Amino acid sequence: QSIRLFPYNIVLIGFMGTGKTAIGDRLSQLLRMDTIDTDVLIERQMKTSISKMFEEHGEKYFRQIEKDMVKRVSLRKNTIISCGGGVVLDSENVEHLKETGKIVLLSAQPEIIYERVKNDQNLPVLKGNMTVEFITKKMEERKDKYESAADIIVDTSHKDKEEICQEIVYKL
Ligand code: S3P
Repeated sequence: QSIRLFPYNIVLIGFMGTGKTAIGDRLSQLLRMDTIDTDVLIERQMKTSISKMFEEHGEKYFRQIEKDMVKRVSLRKNTIISCGGGVVLDSENVEHLKETGKIVLLSAQPEIIYERVKNDQNLPVLKGNMTVEFITKKMEERKDKYESAADIIVDTSHKDKEEICQEIVYKL
């Protein structure tokens, strides 16, 4: 049987390496909600990787496709939506997501993010700049946008998946 505790979508935002996808998957088991990931949907739709899209067509092109995808997934209900880390760069994305969902910002310390993402080859924003310093700078640039979009904020730095999910459910 299906438990419908949340009459809205749960939208996970945050910097790369804050655990959006992993937490989305675990929350979907706990709450028996569907889960989707905008990056995965984009890669499936475009039949290519995000890295290749950046390389071949540039970031602007990717952001437009991301924007179309966000608009589309915002129409869903009872879904956990994990977003790409740059989704907050366009305020219209946030507006769409807010219409049907509660926004959960996952945060983490730059050193911890670095450890989680350092071997990930599919992160074009960090390509050639995989350092704690650059991650710190990028996070700082986006900080206000992340925080003003968020309904709740959960720090994932020193917690396991179960603790993070419990905190989200409690705070929502
Ligand atoms: C991006 C984050 C990525 C992906 C793309 C751009 C960003 O998503 O959308 O590489 O600008 O922060 P994840 O945060 O899921 O890695």
